[in-house]
Amino acid sequence: MVASARTEPRGSMAMELTFGDPALTARLERGMDASEEWLRALAAGAQDPRVAEVAGHLFGPGGKRLRPLLALVGAEFGDRAPSSTDPYATDPSRAVEAAALAELVHVASLYHDDVMDQAHTRRGVPSVNARWGNTTAVLAGNWLLSKAAQLAAELGPETIRLQSKVTNRLIMGQIRELVGPSDEDDPLSHYFTVVAGKSAALISMALQLGAVRTGAPEHVVQTLAEYGEHLGIAFQISDDILDITSTSEVSGKEQGKDLAIGVASLPVLLALADERPEAGELRTLLTAATAGPEGAGLPRAVALLHRCGALAEARTVMHARLLRARTAANGLPDGPATRVLHALCDFVARRDH
Ligand code: IPE
Ligand code: IPE
Ligand code: MG
Ligand code: MG
Repeated sequence: MVASARTEPRGSMAMELTFGDPALTARLERGMDASEEWLRALAAGAQDPRVAEVAGHLFGPGGKRLRPLLALVGAEFGDRAPSSTDPYATDPSRAVEAAALAELVHVASLYHDDVMDQAHTRRGVPSVNARWGNTTAVLAGNWLLSKAAQLAAELGPETIRLQSKVTNRLIMGQIRELVGPSDEDDPLSHYFTVVAGKSAALISMALQLGAVRTGAPEHVVQTLAEYGEHLGIAFQISDDILDITSTSEVSGKEQGKDLAIGVASLPVLLALADERPEAGELRTLLTAATAGPEGAGLPRAVALLHRCGALAEARTVMHARLLRARTAANGLPDGPATRVLHALCDFVARRDH
């Protein structure tokens, strides 16, 4: 397993979440490795060498591989789940490809998101747009989405249904974020609609996909979907908080990017929502940051977000979502996979600083 200097490495996650069940840990790790190999082979197999290089750019470095992990955990709920003795060598449900599919859609969305955000760094390396330009990044993201559609078609109608729906929700979330709330919209309601689409939809879909592929009962699939929607929103809130509080060495992306480009993250929305004393200065600083050179005034904006209590409030909202995720998980059959889902809530709760 590849070690990483960053604190959110891909390798440690399955281990961290399944302590107490070495067989499940081994099975999930094998599945993660297999899905990663699958993705590397997909990119390497592109007919054009440039496509192979660009499409494979983020399959190597960093990344938590949260969505493949969720697909594999979802696959534990069906009666065709891979066994401990023969984890994925023969995988009739093709859960590994389901895991790869979820990561494929995710990475495509990162390519497009980094164009939208004019990001320079992703997973600790130059983003695709920074290295090859926006046009290449958009086209390579489209190539990845086309491969996701092709794979979904091979896996069958239920997978196509899930994959096409999630792609649409994700893109709608990104469009809604770009357009912003109308004058009639409540900015906070708009935020929750955006993050449900851009983040929670895929997190929820990964779980559903794994579960559907191994024949889990319908009520279990629905409960996993509900859990995933709440976990996904909490995960995005933790990401919003980390944008402000975490260094790029830890996150693998630029610190303060949301503030610099004017993305309405939850802490900022909360800080501006009522007339707290810091709101006026914060508004001025953020306007200057988006209009002027990136980084100017950001340290002061970060200090104000801490001082006015908005970061603490965002954490409270995140914990409330995690509680809803846990409540949904309580409706699942007791067992190691359900315990992983609870451990994932702990993981998200821990990553907010
Ligand atoms: C980034 O997701 C996009 C969000 C939904 C916040 P991750 O934080 O899971 O990114 P990687 O996969 O680890 O790079
Ligand atoms: C995730 O939201 C959007 C995607 C669909 C990838 P962010 O814009 O917060 O993701 P990061 O912070 O750039 O990873
Ligand atoms: Mg972004
Ligand atoms: Mg973010």
